Amino acid sequence: MIKGFIFDLDGVITDTAELHYEAWKTLSDEMGWDFDREINDQLRGISRMDSLKVILEHNNASLDDETLLELATKKNTIYVASLDSMTAEDYLPGAQELLTHLRSEGFSVALGSSSKNASKVLQQLNATGYFDVIADGYSVSNSKPAPDIFLYGAEKLNLQPEECIVFEDAERGIDAAKTGGFYSVGIGPEERVGHANLRFDSMEKATLFEIKSFFKDLF
Ligand code: BG6
Ligand code: MG
Repeated sequence: MIKGFIFDLDGVITDTAELHYEAWKTLSDEMGWDFDREINDQLRGISRMDSLKVILEHNNASLDDETLLELATKKNTIYVASLDSMTAEDYLPGAQELLTHLRSEGFSVALGSSSKNASKVLQQLNATGYFDVIADGYSVSNSKPAPDIFLYGAEKLNLQPEECIVFEDAERGIDAAKTGGFYSVGIGPEERVGHANLRFDSMEKATLFEIKSFFKDLF
């Protein structure tokens, strides 16, 4: 039986992909690196340092560990500053409605995000109260596609993976959910999250009614 839900943050609750893009773009321009939206899309769900490594690989560049850390920190400073303008108006359409509905029906809810800025984003959205557990970039060391973040969230909710549905917009996030033994809902196009149990183009379509209708034997 489904007792809990675990939500990715960026691209599911709010659309930070554009802010991440702007920050990586600013850094890349400064460094003379090629960076575009297609590469940015490959960074969904992966950690800050892994993202930097993807950009470097694309540019056939390599840097020592100290410089890597310095540049990742620089990108993060730009990104964090851009979060200041985020408000409770910046939920993806449908996300707040679903979180409210899950709360009113008494489901357990966790956040399962690779981001080390998750707490700040939740504060900006005024969304912290929707979550019983917050699993973020500080909770585990192996990032998605490893299932660790979702396993950590489920354990803190006192639930088994098969009692939880994971919401994800990243290909690697769905991989992580499946490897961990969770049911999954993908948010986005077929090419990216078509391997989820259930897929919606956007959060607006992801109502509790639709979810219960699809996973009917589990409720
Ligand atoms: C994920 C985003 O949620 O968090 C990735 O999808 C991002 O794009 C990752 O790289 C890490 O985020 P942060 O905020 O710790 O740099
Ligand atoms: Mg995401």
